[in-house]
Amino acid sequence: MAWVTHMRLLTILLGGLFPMMALAKPVPLDDVSRQEIAERIAPAGTVCKQGEDCAANLGAVASASSEPRTGEAVYNQFCTACHTSGLLGAPKKGDTAEWTKRVSDLGSYSKLLEQAYAGIRSMPAKGTCMNCSEEEFGNAMQYMGVKKE
Ligand code: HEC
Repeated sequence: MAWVTHMRLLTILLGGLFPMMALAKPVPLDDVSRQEIAERIAPAGTVCKQGEDCAANLGAVASASSEPRTGEAVYNQFCTACHTSGLLGAPKKGDTAEWTKRVSDLGSYSKLLEQAYAGIRSMPAKGTCMNCSEEEFGNAMQYMGVKKE
């Protein structure tokens, strides 16, 4: 009978599908996807990639002045995505108690800078500010409430 054939077909189809669904495991994020996520969730107008129109403006601003960028400028462009809301467990801007604890756990401001600049756990290298010097990165840290000794 036709319905018997249909039932067989259905069983074969489902029998093949369910084990495949069970095998699909969540994939851990690598640094690149983390950075992409950070860029996607960054407020509009704060992320600028090389080759985009806005990147040309960035270059112009950077070359017009040889001064390192201020902490505020770096923060608003790169760090705010995570450090304003505490996304992924990021210590929040202005939470001086947490920042002071991190400095004293590591022993010094420069060690914290070094560790954060290199990237640690969910904190992407250079906080996604790929052209940030250590000084500019440090400016942003201080803007968030990290005390430089
Ligand atoms: C994609 C989200 C994200 C962005 C963007 C980001 N951070 Fe972070 N940051 C984190 C997270 C999460 C942690 C906590 C890491 C941990 O301790 O597990 C962190 C920790 C840190 C720490 C402490 C590191 C330590 O060793 O305790 C510093 C300093 C820091 N960030 C600076 C910055 C600066 C400066 C910027 C911008 C230039 C920035 N971050 C951008 C997510 C981010």
